[in-house]
Amino acid sequence: MKTINFNITALEAEYHELSEQDKALVDAAKNATRNSYAPYSGFRVGAAILLDNGTVITGSNQENAAFPSGTCAERSACFYAAAQHPGVPFKKIAIAAWPSGKEPSQCTPQEWESLFQALPISPCGACRQALLEYENKYSDIQVILFGREKVYIFPSIKSLLPFSFVEF
Ligand code: THU
Repeated sequence: MKTINFNITALEAEYHELSEQDKALVDAAKNATRNSYAPYSGFRVGAAILLDNGTVITGSNQENAAFPSGTCAERSACFYAAAQHPGVPFKKIAIAAWPSGKEPSQCTPQEWESLFQALPISPCGACRQALLEYENKYSDIQVILFGREKVYIFPSIKSLLPFSFVEF
């Protein structure tokens, strides 16, 4: 027997270090948190997917009184993108979380900005699996996880989901 490693490597950056294209994608994910429906958790999440044709698709978490019926921001963006733009590869996804429980429209722009998570959140296993399907069908999807203090950039979904189930 021997030990084998499945390593995860990411880039750590600050928002101001991102390219203009990546800043715009992060901004789209942040703005998408406004459309979140999260009356049960108070935890708003936004996702923005850049398609290969330059289109940006956003999604947000949509909760439901029957809890498992709700869905995460990443899957809402992913399935909308695939349904509306079949055959178009995903290039990047940006994700941002606004966990305050407040009503965004009641906040000043400064307060709204300050209430994003300082550190990034990471997509859940189900969202990684859903995104992986499109990555395997097309090409690597870069993942940009926004935090006010740190931004993490992963080169692909598979880097976040090593040793994944891919086919049967
Ligand atoms: N959530 C997302 O939308 N994306 C994630 O990456 C993690 C969690 C949502 C699900 C639920 O509506 C709320 O955040 C609290 O878990």
